[in-house]
Amino acid sequence: MARILVNNSGPLHGEVDISGAKNSVLPLLAATLMTEDICEIEDVPDLADVSVMKKILRKYGAEIDDSEQGIIRARTPKIISCEGDRDLVTEMRASLFTMGPMLARHGKIIMPMPGGCTIGKRPIDLHLKGFRALGAKVEEDIENETVTVETGPDGLQGDVIYLDFPSVGATENILMAATLAKGTTIIENAAKEPEIIDLANLLNKMGARIKSAGTDMIRIEGVGSLSGCIHQAIPDRIETGTFMLAAAITRGEVLIKNALPGHVRPIIAKLKECNVDIDIYPEGIYVDARGKELVATDIKTLPFPGFPTDIQSPFMAFLTTVKGKSVVRETVFENRFMHVVELNRMGADIQTENREAIVPGGRKLHGAKVRATDLRAGAAMVLAGLVATGTTEISEIYHIERGYEDFVGKFKALGADIMKIDD
Ligand code: EPZ
Repeated sequence: MARILVNNSGPLHGEVDISGAKNSVLPLLAATLMTEDICEIEDVPDLADVSVMKKILRKYGAEIDDSEQGIIRARTPKIISCEGDRDLVTEMRASLFTMGPMLARHGKIIMPMPGGCTIGKRPIDLHLKGFRALGAKVEEDIENETVTVETGPDGLQGDVIYLDFPSVGATENILMAATLAKGTTIIENAAKEPEIIDLANLLNKMGARIKSAGTDMIRIEGVGSLSGCIHQAIPDRIETGTFMLAAAITRGEVLIKNALPGHVRPIIAKLKECNVDIDIYPEGIYVDARGKELVATDIKTLPFPGFPTDIQSPFMAFLTTVKGKSVVRETVFENRFMHVVELNRMGADIQTENREAIVPGGRKLHGAKVRATDLRAGAAMVLAGLVATGTTEISEIYHIERGYEDFVGKFKALGADIMKIDD
């Protein structure tokens, strides 16, 4: 089993280039199913999840040229299958993002129900609510654990859809399906994440008519068809936050290049509350925590523009090292404290109660054998390992490789004493 070994590394220093956003590239790739023309997506990170999405698209009939580093050219002349692959869906929940495009293009999709995962049961009721509102028939086969969604003879019809929770995936799926529906669709209480805007920009380049993506009410006027385009994905705001925290936890200084400050405002605000110096330059975000007496702060995760749930665990690792007690509240997922047990193995002494964690702070962490319990928790364990005494050995690192491009290489370039061991 591959592992990552991290030794106490002292303050990091240098520059890091942020890759294209995983959580943008995955829906962007799914959207290419909706046209016979070539779509060229640029700044695609080299990630396990991107490889899975390519497999899924090819299964539906997509022809994919990924011969050029960082660029994917995809075209789907015709749909050859409308059955999602159970193994691939289990491997990656984001395969759900192909439901909207398949409904819009092909009129039918048979999708295995995605298993929950370590961070919660993660239902798809809001996705299905949206498809029903657009006139599709939804049949859930509990015994075979599949859901079949099929349009009527007249295809999809626009309607008003209220999302009980501003779900990112549901907003993206409904947005894509609505682009080819007849008439106008309004998504109310829509997710406002930057990845939604990036997807709407791609779809509008393809000929869709989407207004006010990025607000809580998105208006889509259906069109007859979509064509190809060239689109550069936005930089990864969660990778950006992760490396901001790497500078802060090691009391170092790092210039995070290609980062968009507007996508990480809560992280900038919270690190400043902890007494970290942060400056914005044309090249990127400069984080300087050298020689600073850092203090505690509380965080509460919320949908965008609130504090991002994906940065909760890396930020918690950082809070174990600052002076004073912090309270961390997780409001987006019902089970996203799996990393607490792992941090406590290193001496963090964190207590949890339901969706609240009390981080005493001021700890001298010590190396231990720990697990990556999800993608972001894995990053949190690397951050903790950088400042723990001795060696920290992290297993189940496939989680990390799903969503961080060249994670070990980027940390090494900043002076971290880190290596990957392939058994
Ligand atoms: C996206 O997941 C991201 N994944 C997640 O990033 C991120 O944590 C999440 O948004 C929240 O920001 C991708 O974009 C590929 P949601 P998604 O639908 O779309 C509940 C990472 O580490 N819900 O906004 O699955 C759900 O159970 C990953 O990169 C319903 O109840 O998130 C959860 O509690 C982890 N019914 C909450 O909403 C539904 O139909 C947020 O889920 C859908 C969701």
